[in-house]
Amino acid sequence: MYIGVDYYPEHWPEERWAYDADRMRDAGFNVVRLAEFAWQRFEPVEGRFEFEWLDKALATLKSRGISAILGTPTAVAPVWLDRKYPETAAENNQGRRLTWGVRKANCPTSPAYRLLSERITRAMAAHYASNPAVIGWQTDNEFDGPICYCHGCVVDFQDWLHKRHGSIEALNAAWGTHFWGHAYSAFAEIGAPENLDHYNPGLCLDWLRHHTWRTVRFQHEQVRVLRELCPNHFVTHNFMAFGNRDVNGFELARDLDFASVDVYPIWSDQSIPYEAAAAGDLTRGLKRKNYWVMESTAGPCGWGAFGRDPFPGEIRKVAFQQVAHGSDNHVWFRWRACTAGREQYWHGLLGHDGKPLRRYAEAGATARDLHKLASKLAGTTVRADVAIVFDYDSRWAVRIQPGYDGNDVQQALMRYHAAAFRAGVNVDIVSAQADLSAYKAVFAPDLHVLPDALATRLCAYVENGGVLVADCRTGVKTETNLCHDRTLPGLLSAALGIEIEEYGAHSLEYPVIGKERLPGSFTSIKYNDWITPKTAASLATYDHWHLGAYPAVTRNTYGKGAGYYVGTVANEDSFYDALIAAVFAEAGVAARISPPPGVEVSVREGDGKTIVFVLNHTDQPIEIPIADSYGDLLSDADVSGSIQLDRFGVAVLEERPTKRDGRA
Ligand code: GLA
Ligand code: ZN
Repeated sequence: MYIGVDYYPEHWPEERWAYDADRMRDAGFNVVRLAEFAWQRFEPVEGRFEFEWLDKALATLKSRGISAILGTPTAVAPVWLDRKYPETAAENNQGRRLTWGVRKANCPTSPAYRLLSERITRAMAAHYASNPAVIGWQTDNEFDGPICYCHGCVVDFQDWLHKRHGSIEALNAAWGTHFWGHAYSAFAEIGAPENLDHYNPGLCLDWLRHHTWRTVRFQHEQVRVLRELCPNHFVTHNFMAFGNRDVNGFELARDLDFASVDVYPIWSDQSIPYEAAAAGDLTRGLKRKNYWVMESTAGPCGWGAFGRDPFPGEIRKVAFQQVAHGSDNHVWFRWRACTAGREQYWHGLLGHDGKPLRRYAEAGATARDLHKLASKLAGTTVRADVAIVFDYDSRWAVRIQPGYDGNDVQQALMRYHAAAFRAGVNVDIVSAQADLSAYKAVFAPDLHVLPDALATRLCAYVENGGVLVADCRTGVKTETNLCHDRTLPGLLSAALGIEIEEYGAHSLEYPVIGKERLPGSFTSIKYNDWITPKTAASLATYDHWHLGAYPAVTRNTYGKGAGYYVGTVANEDSFYDALIAAVFAEAGVAARISPPPGVEVSVREGDGKTIVFVLNHTDQPIEIPIADSYGDLLSDADVSGSIQLDRFGVAVLEERPTKRDGRA
C-alpha cells in the first residue's frame, strides 16, 4: 500500500529536503506525488531541459524508501510559452484570451500547445523511465474547464460534428434547426454556443461532449508517450468526482490504468460526508476497479478564506472512508503549507513553520494502521448489489434546461445515495453504458436523456427480475437533446406501468401520504408529474383537491421484476429512507450491520474475505449492535454483540469465515 503526500521540493531550499524525507519516512510514508506544476523548472527556456533538481530530490526520497508519482506539468505553462505562443491560451466565450498567471488556462486544441505538451512529456518520460524512485504518472491536473472558445476549437468542433452526424441534413434534423430558422447549409457555418441557456439545446449538448473529446485527445497524446517510453509505470489522473462538471470522467478514465480522486470533505462543515462517500463510489465506478486518493484534506483549505481545521480523528476517518469505498492508496495534500503563492492557506500536515503538527502525527498513525491492514485488504473491493446510474448526457442536458428550478443530476443522485448510506448498503455508481444485469436494484435518477437502446435495456433488466427506480424528468430527451415525441416516460412506460400526460414545476409544498410499502407523511416540492397508472399501483398520494387524483409514487410488476417511479421531489430524507427500504426489501438487499445515525458501514470482499468498515462520523462515542462475530483487524480483538467506537472512530472487522452461509 502506498501512503504519502503531495510534495513540492521546488518550494523549499535543497537543504530542507533530507529533513522532510526523514519525517515522511518516520510517519510511514512511502510515496509522494511531485512536479505537476513544475514545467517552468524543467524547461526554463524553450527546449532546454533541466532535471537535475528533481533527480536530487528523488534520490533523497528514494534513500528513505519513498517512491514517486510524477505529474505531467501541463496544467501551468511557463510564462515564456504564453508570450511566445499566445495562441496556446484558451479563449473565453467573448473571444478574449485568458490572462496568463493562474492555471488551467490553455487551449487543448492548439497545435502549439499540444506539441509543447507532448515535448515536455517526452523529455520527462525519457529522463525518468528507469529512475528507480518513479512508479507512475499523473496526467496534468484535475482536467475539467475552462472550455475554450477559440477559432481552432470551433473548427475542430465542426470536424467532429461532421464525423458524428455524417451530413449537414442529419445534423439539422438531430438538433431541430427548423426552430427559429436556424438550419445550416454547411458544417463551416457552425459556431460555439456563447452560453448554455439560450442556444439550441442540441448544439449545447454536442459542444459539451466535444469539450470532453478535446480533453481526452489532449490527455491521450501524453498517455501515448508515457506508454511508449515508460512501459513499467502506471498512468492515472486525479479526478474531482462530481467536481468534474465539464468533462465526462468515464471517457477520460478509459486511457488510464486506474482512476484517482482528490477529496476534501472537511472543506465544508457538513458533518456527515455523504458526498465523499459518493465520490469514492464514482471514482471506483470510472474504471470499475479500486482507485487511489491522490489528494485529501490535511488541514484548513482555501485560496482566500479557509475552512475549519479537521478535529482530532477526522484526518484518519476521512482516509478510512475512502479505503472503505475501494481506495487502495492514500495521499494527503499537502506536506507543508506553502509560504508563497495562491495556495498559502491550503494547509498541510506541516504548518508554514515546517514543524510536524498534530495533523502530521495523525496522518502517521493512519499510515501505520493502513500498512497493517494492507495484506488483509489485498484482493478485496466493494461488491455492490445496487447500482446508481450517473449519466453525463443527462447531467449536461439538465444543466442546459433544468426543467424545474434547481433540478440537478448530482443532487438527484445524492438523494438515493445518501439513503443507501444511511441504510448501510454499498452502491456502485456507474455510467449508463455499464452492464446492469447483475444488480438486484438499479436507481436511474434524473435519467433525462434516454436513447431508445438504453430504455430497451432498462426494460429488459426489469423483465429479467431487476428492481428499477426512475423518477421525474426521466426519458424526456433523445440523445440529441430533442424532446421525445412520445407520452412520458416513453419506452419505459411498459416497465413502469404508467403514463404522464401533464406535469408542472412550482415553489409550493404539497402533503404526500404514503401507504403499504411506503408508510409515512412527506412533502412534495418543486415538481409534480400527473401520473396515470396503467398497470402500476400507487404507493403514495397527494393530500390535495386536484393532485389527489394522481399517485406521487408508483410500483409496477413487470416480468420477473418491478419498476418504481417517483413523480416528485420530496423534502424529507425520511421519504428516501422509506422508499429505499421498500426497494431493498423487494430486491433482497440487506445491510450486514445496520448503522445508527451518523455511522457508515461499507464492505470490501474478495479472496474469500469479507471486511466490514464501520465509521463513526459523529463527535460522540457510540455503541453499535452487531449480529455476527468478527475479528477487529486494528486491535486484533474478537468482537461480537456490539462494538464501541470513539468519536470519529473507525473499526475494520473481518467476518469469521464460518458465518453467513445461509445469507441471501
Ligand atoms: C486541487 C489541485 C491541487 C491544489 C488544490 C488546492 O485539488 O489539484 O493542485 O491546487 O486544489 O488548491
Ligand atoms: Zn481552443
